[in-house]
Amino acid sequence: MAKTIATENTAMQIGSTAGKLMRVVIVGHVDHGKSTLVGRMFHDTGQLPDGKMEAIQEMCRKRGMPFEWAFLMDSLKAERDQGVTIDTSQIWFHHNNRQYVIIDAPGHREFIRNMVTGASNADAALLMIDADQGIRRQSRHHSYLLQLLGVREVAVAVNKMDLVDYDETRFRKIETEYKSYLKSIGLEARRVIPISAREGDNVASASERMPWYDGPSIIETLAEFELSEPPVDRPLRLPLQDVFKFDDRRILAGRIESGTLRTGDELLFSPSNRTARVATIESWNTEQAPKMASAGLSVGITLDEQIFVERGEIASHLTDPPIETNVLHLRLFWLVDTPMEIGASYGLKLGPRHLSATVEQIERVIDVEALSDHAATEVKRDEIADVVVRTNQLVALDEHDNLPRTGRAILHNRHRTLAGGVISMGNYPDQRKQITIRSSNITKVVHSVDTARRIAQNRHKPGVLWFTGLSGAGKSTLAMGLERRLFDEGYQTYVLDGDNVRTGLNANLSFSPEDRSENIRRVSEVAVLLADAGLIVISALISPYRADRDRARDAAGGLFREVFIKAEIATCEARDTKGLYKRARAGEIAEFTGISAPYEEPVKPELVIDTNDRDIDSCIDELVAYVRANFKIPS
Ligand code: ADX
Repeated sequence: MAKTIATENTAMQIGSTAGKLMRVVIVGHVDHGKSTLVGRMFHDTGQLPDGKMEAIQEMCRKRGMPFEWAFLMDSLKAERDQGVTIDTSQIWFHHNNRQYVIIDAPGHREFIRNMVTGASNADAALLMIDADQGIRRQSRHHSYLLQLLGVREVAVAVNKMDLVDYDETRFRKIETEYKSYLKSIGLEARRVIPISAREGDNVASASERMPWYDGPSIIETLAEFELSEPPVDRPLRLPLQDVFKFDDRRILAGRIESGTLRTGDELLFSPSNRTARVATIESWNTEQAPKMASAGLSVGITLDEQIFVERGEIASHLTDPPIETNVLHLRLFWLVDTPMEIGASYGLKLGPRHLSATVEQIERVIDVEALSDHAATEVKRDEIADVVVRTNQLVALDEHDNLPRTGRAILHNRHRTLAGGVISMGNYPDQRKQITIRSSNITKVVHSVDTARRIAQNRHKPGVLWFTGLSGAGKSTLAMGLERRLFDEGYQTYVLDGDNVRTGLNANLSFSPEDRSENIRRVSEVAVLLADAGLIVISALISPYRADRDRARDAAGGLFREVFIKAEIATCEARDTKGLYKRARAGEIAEFTGISAPYEEPVKPELVIDTNDRDIDSCIDELVAYVRANFKIPS
């Protein structure tokens, strides 16, 4: 066995799949005959140790039990476990110069858990259906998961044909029905094979009892499966599993999930955003230190500088780095009895990174039978759902569609895995751009007029009133009304309005999540400058993302006041002063806030102006009173 593992590593080092193990997961309802099939495969290809079969038959006879192939498998697994620490559900198998690992999860939930956690990193899947019982809900569930995780090499074994008298009509019915389901979720079965694992029909050789089937056997189908290439040409991702001190060196260890790393490469560590070059790639079993290493290989590296990076960070190249965010979409499988609820917090594990996450939204629960979805306030056991979670810290990750190995996450509590799922960003921006400091060699110049003198002359303190709310909530109307009233009362004041700013300073920005973030960043920096000039700045931008507003608050220090201009989406849509809601509903404007793009309400705004049922003047009165109370210097 050790030899096989060595073969795998060597193959990965040179970045080829030659001689690599084919990992096949056997998937099916608990009693659809998985163990029997594996037992048969061993027997019919002559791979059972001498005397094993006889020993089990003898054991059965003594205990007065009928012989079961599954007993044979159980005893083989037990033997293999001794002295070798591998997962009990993995069985090594070879045939015609090809090495296989047959992965057999004992139950439905273990299967899902192993798959979503990446523990069963399968290249291919054999789906088992009981010919007598037909397609069950779990069969659909399993295939949905395979498609979601990107397992594309799939074959179906319709087992227990002996129980239905090897009836072709029965087989064709299941074949048609299952193929059509697989097609509807975007999967295509390479083969659908009628078998009897117990009797050995179509397992290793063609069945004489089913002359109407002329396709390949199970063993021949395994040989047809194509091995997926490790993603050596994709962007580099090396999640750090550990940082060791070794002599006086620090060795960063982890598994390269994608891409290729060379000595001398400049690496970016996310989310700390530190950089350094690869000095050496450590190796324990080769004489010469390797100059490069690729996806699939576990490595230790040293850097040319002693920078502080920790377990859980992801190393990449400077181009094509992972996304940095604190909010993400998860399509997850909920595994436990206690339902997932909105507002609940869980442990979130992304590769080696552990943090905590709060469920902000349950977008939909997906019905795998009808392939429809519905709204829900909780996610129950065995359900699949799309949710939005917010993490307590910035985290580096990828979208599963782009880089699957760094695009998965697990939710857990202290005791166990609660759910696993795949990541997408939807309308949430990559926050990397907002936090990367690029300028260097900068020295701040001090103004000759200081803040105290400006305040004394203006008779008021500077401030940033950050209006946020949906389009049509009344931000611009109230901002302009307030500016007028304050000006009349002698205040130095100016409105930074989204629509206006987007005709000049921000004319090059769209409404994509990243551009909206940049829009907010620039306006918040302008607001800081104007406030430094002594003004009461009123900004009127949707500013839909909480993280952006929090950064604006940080930029303005103690001067910042978040003002939530609150109106229901229905109210805004009824007003539709610019006619944009109508156009958004007609699909003419993509990513429209509140319709097809998110708006995250403020958590603790300094002021809430609810405009649903109020007239403009009373709202402005309240705002003026707020400014007088907070910014005016009494004369
Ligand atoms: S923000 O999201 O980046 O803060 P901003 O306040 O600058 O938005 O601009 C919003 C204004 O742009 C809206 O009042 C509306 O007039 C216009 N607009 C055009 N397209 C969109 C869109 N897709 N979503 C929201 N507003 C849009």
